[in-house]
Amino acid sequence: MTPQAPRTIRVDLAGRAYDIVVGPGLIDRAGALCRPLLAAAKVIIVSDETVAPLYGRRLVDSFEKAGVKAALITVAAGESSKEFAAFGRLMNGLLDQRPDRKTTLVALGGGVVGDLTGFAAAVLLRGVDFIQIPTTLLAQVDSSVGGKTGINTRHGKNLVGAFYQPRLVLADTDVLDTLPKRELLAGYAEVVKYGLIDDPVFFAWCEANGAGLLEGDAAKRTYAIEQSCLAKARIVAADERETTDLRALLNLGHTFGHALEAETGFGGELLHGEAVGAGMAMAFDLSSRLGLCPPADAARVRDHLGAVGLPLRLRSIGGDNRRRWEAARLIEHMRGDKKAADGRLTFVLVRGIGQAFVSRSVDEAALRGMLVDAIAA
Ligand SMILES: NC(=O)c1ccc[n+]([C@@H]2O[C@H](COP(=O)([O-])OP(=O)(O)OC[C@H]3O[C@@H](n4cnc5c(N)ncnc54)[C@H](O)[C@@H]3O)[C@@H](O)[C@H]2O)c1
Ligand SMILES: [Zn+2]
Repeated sequence: MTPQAPRTIRVDLAGRAYDIVVGPGLIDRAGALCRPLLAAAKVIIVSDETVAPLYGRRLVDSFEKAGVKAALITVAAGESSKEFAAFGRLMNGLLDQRPDRKTTLVALGGGVVGDLTGFAAAVLLRGVDFIQIPTTLLAQVDSSVGGKTGINTRHGKNLVGAFYQPRLVLADTDVLDTLPKRELLAGYAEVVKYGLIDDPVFFAWCEANGAGLLEGDAAKRTYAIEQSCLAKARIVAADERETTDLRALLNLGHTFGHALEAETGFGGELLHGEAVGAGMAMAFDLSSRLGLCPPADAARVRDHLGAVGLPLRLRSIGGDNRRRWEAARLIEHMRGDKKAADGRLTFVLVRGIGQAFVSRSVDEAALRGMLVDAIAA
């Protein structure tokens, strides 16, 4: 494979603009790339028990070669690290390193490490700088862009947090080689989402190139990550704090997806990106039933998501668990979704591929009919 130059995307937020650099080989160059942005030559890297053994040493070396003192703190892999207790342990672990206001935190890992470290940075000593080095496709195209950070509570996911922007994001496409195929595919659903929201040309690119990207084509990975970050950065810059419907479009497939995740317990049975993939197919199905979107567009979306291997049939979710899905229970979860304004069902629907919009007036009978059919399919 020919080595390619990294691509840089500028996220334009008043007073807090920052770059996202995408391409191969960035972990080993991280020290040199980050050094000019550091307030002092000291960083604390936070990673998880899976990612730290793979890339932690190389990242520490890269900082030390650039004359930056680097400590590495490891948390458990997985969502449990976003619990309050784990967050408390991390804060004490960070303070053990005797940071000062000029210390920078570096998140090396997937969305869990990114959300957790970003929130830690927002509150450590009332706020220190942080840099994101996302290592899952989902984190590279979604969670590392936009400045949402936070942890979970028993009331739900991400209910305690802060909008806190990083100083720099380094998305090294090489690290995706060690990511389990299932995680890669789940992240890919969020890539496709950007095409479906407002970029039909990018969706067509995904149809033609998605399989190659998933098989490891580095140039295709760089292109897809760059396009995804550009799309998210554009939306976030226009609506940083989700005050209009614009940023809500990023939730395409998510109200349905969250209901599926809630039923499956937010665990390994159904990954977030898998739920979003199935949820986007449902959003198109419902839109087509409501006469909003051409049925052919809904079929194209389902065909592509299915062709790359995302699980779309509810029966196929949960292995031999033989889960009994119920439309009424799924609707209850949708009502509980934090995006549901005063109990009203709010959905991102579509007028076609690349034409998403927010709807607060979904006919409940049509919704129920779509779910009943999805369960029976
Ligand atoms: N802040 C946001 O805007 C935003 C957006 C979407 C999702 N999220 C959050 O992101 C989290 C999910 O992120 P995720 O899907 O990246 O999950 P994750 O961070 O749990 O990573 C998935 C798994 O892959 C492993 N892993 C990570 N990189 C690897 C690599 N390069 N090689 C091998 N293994 C690797 C991890 O150890 C973990 O076991 C959720 O907590 C979600 O709430 C946040
Ligand atoms: Zn998502």
